[in-house]
Amino acid sequence: MPLIEKEIIDKIREANNIVDVIGEYLSLTKKGRNFFALCPFHDDNNPSLSVSSEKQIFKCFVCGEAGNVFNFLMKYKNINFNEALKILGDKVGIHTNVKIEKKVYKDNSYYKMYEIITKFYNLNLLSERGKEAFNYLEKRKITKELIKRFQIGLALDNKDLATKLLSEKGYSVDSLIKLGITNKGDYDYYDVFNNRIMFPLHNLDGEIVGFSGRIYKENSTHTNKYINSKESEIFKKGEILYNYHNIKNEIAKHKQIIIVEGFMDVIRLVSVGIENVVATMGTSFTKEQIKAIKRLTNNIFLSFDGDKAGLSATYKTGILFRKNGMDVNVIVLDNDSDPDSYILEHGKDKYQILIDKKIPFIEFVIDYLKKDKDLSKSVDQALYINEVMNEINTIEDMTLKKILIKRISSDMNIDNEILTSKLIGNKKDIKIKEIEDKLSNKYLKAEKNLIYYMFKYPEVIKIYEKNISYLPTKEYRFLANEILYFYKNYGTITFADFITYLENKTDLINLTCEILNYNFKEDYSIEEINDYIEVLKDYNINKEIKRLEEEMKKETDVQKKMDILSKIMEFKKGVS
Ligand code: CTP
Ligand code: MN
Repeated sequence: MPLIEKEIIDKIREANNIVDVIGEYLSLTKKGRNFFALCPFHDDNNPSLSVSSEKQIFKCFVCGEAGNVFNFLMKYKNINFNEALKILGDKVGIHTNVKIEKKVYKDNSYYKMYEIITKFYNLNLLSERGKEAFNYLEKRKITKELIKRFQIGLALDNKDLATKLLSEKGYSVDSLIKLGITNKGDYDYYDVFNNRIMFPLHNLDGEIVGFSGRIYKENSTHTNKYINSKESEIFKKGEILYNYHNIKNEIAKHKQIIIVEGFMDVIRLVSVGIENVVATMGTSFTKEQIKAIKRLTNNIFLSFDGDKAGLSATYKTGILFRKNGMDVNVIVLDNDSDPDSYILEHGKDKYQILIDKKIPFIEFVIDYLKKDKDLSKSVDQALYINEVMNEINTIEDMTLKKILIKRISSDMNIDNEILTSKLIGNKKDIKIKEIEDKLSNKYLKAEKNLIYYMFKYPEVIKIYEKNISYLPTKEYRFLANEILYFYKNYGTITFADFITYLENKTDLINLTCEILNYNFKEDYSIEEINDYIEVLKDYNINKEIKRLEEEMKKETDVQKKMDILSKIMEFKKGVS
């Protein structure tokens, strides 16, 4: 047990409802008595992480990861028990004096600097001096409300206002340079951004970590349209997704995410009430970004620009998401639009229709791969068919595969069988079969039931103690002993606190949660418990008989052989 008093730990655990805590990180959907989410601890395609409010535990049915609210946070944030305890304790106002290493809480003065400067830029935009930029935004239908909502601001046409402001507040120029707010000139310091409309960029947790600045004056076309903050300790382009921190509830509602190329597109969609949308910074997706999206949903809508670059990005991104087991749909716009301009021109309803009429990624691919090929030539035909079949082979659904093949076969006027010969069969789900086999074992069933009811009814612990000294399966044996020990020490047993007590015995934690998640009956009858006890005694006897039989075979002394035999006979009488 950690050094903090058990009572305090239990109190902190009790005050932090696991459903609320996990709900802060994952998008939960209620199904029956439990909540479900995509499991963040393995590459999950269907929500397999269940969270029980009643038992205050989580459990993934696929990777087996499980535990109480502490375990979740430890695993999710990659922190130790004390750190998790501190975070959860602080949240509910129960303060522990645990010392934790600095690294968990990044030096938050960096975030603070960004907060200050964002406010400053925002005020600039709304001030008299921001008139021209404000008008520019107004023309683009970015209202004052949107300006506030996205904390849009303005870096004035000035050399070092931002640098001065933050220096005066006591922040070192060194840290300003490190964060990409300030540049060092030959003789002095100057702001990185000036004369640009400033869009703050948030990390996944919602802290501002950088900016993107856009030109807005007619005659400033000679410079880059956007300048972004350089990468810093807190700003990594490949780790942020514009608007991500705002959308958790939206995704829970809509069960899908729309991905666009630019943050202007995000702002436009949000302005018309489509809020389940994020953008990258015009870069291709990184592992971190994909993981972050998978935490929310596997149901992807790609809505990129309608030009050639946009289609190519759609193809590449779609392949990437598909590889990660996600379900991809595509929204295709006309050549010269992006979601922003499309909605401004045609209105929200037309765009909504495109969402509703979604094109499954594979259909997009079948079309897309034809581009840049001359399908009247057999070389290009073969190339096309190979490329398309590669994609079709990534689909799980056999029926869909066949339908697509039929379509391509008639479309390309090519024999169905040639295509079918290129099909690769689906792999069977071996894991489920293993679990089923295990479950059919009557001893295992008895062990599981017994342990389950030991957790729920202390009198079963006593029955266990009296009748059974040894469970056949090693893990269950350990677990039963721990339960017994815990109960004897604390006089009661609560699942979630028991899990805390198990500390880093991950296997036992997982096992506990697995057992608790079985849909056994709520109440037990004493007859039933007795049956389990009998089954287990029977097992132990059978095992003992086998052992004795082996011993007898090896024994050379006749008298001793007889003794063993009579022991065996005695045991056999006990087993009917
Ligand atoms: N981008 C960038 N630097 C550029 C151009 C683009 O960092 N010089 C990034 C921006 O994050 C932008 C995204 O790529 O949001 C998409 O680019 P683009 O489609 O050109 O931007 P739009 O969202 O269409 O912006 P606008 O409508 O203001 O032109
Ligand atoms: Mn645009």
